[in-house]
Amino acid sequence: MEITGKGVVVTGAGSGIGRGIALALAQAGAEGVIVADVQQEKAEGVAAEILALGGQGCRLPLRRESRGIGGSLGRFAWQTLGHVEILCNNAGVVTTGPGFDTTEQDLRWQFEVNVFGVFFGCKSFGQRF
Ligand SMILES: NC(=O)c1ccc[n+]([C@@H]2O[C@H](COP(=O)([O-])OP(=O)(O)OC[C@H]3O[C@@H](n4cnc5c(N)ncnc54)[C@H](O)[C@@H]3O)[C@@H](O)[C@H]2O)c1
Repeated sequence: MEITGKGVVVTGAGSGIGRGIALALAQAGAEGVIVADVQQEKAEGVAAEILALGGQGCRLPLRRESRGIGGSLGRFAWQTLGHVEILCNNAGVVTTGPGFDTTEQDLRWQFEVNVFGVFFGCKSFGQRF
């Protein structure tokens, strides 16, 4: 797949796998990468790393709720980059420890990010694509 010149959005790009994806796509020639994460400082750091590579790196702080992964992220991405060709719906969360200690709130949070976040991301970006 040709990456050069592409507009990219990576959710959960502030750390781990998402950070790796964002940096790899910037190194492969992406024109701009939106680093979308709920952790603002981490996202800022990755955006700065991308800028240092010579790419356009933009941080977007997201709220914990997955809805932001849909509409508002799409609007920001197109307004900022002008075009978007790649969405990496990477953001994910998991709680550790025995399953019987997992609270309903924890479980809802995981579904919110891991299931609804991916759904709204695909829906919103898919319509724009
Ligand atoms: N690391 C592994 O070995 C591994 C293996 C299998 C699956 N996974 C899954 O892959 C995903 C990423 O893993 P990782 O190791 O990079 O995790 P990580 O915790 O290092 O990174 C996840 C990032 O997502 C961000 N995030 C959380 N909720 C968000 C939201 N609502 N919107 C935007 N960003 C949000 C976090 O702030 C964090 O920066 C997770 O779902 C994880 O469960 C990881």
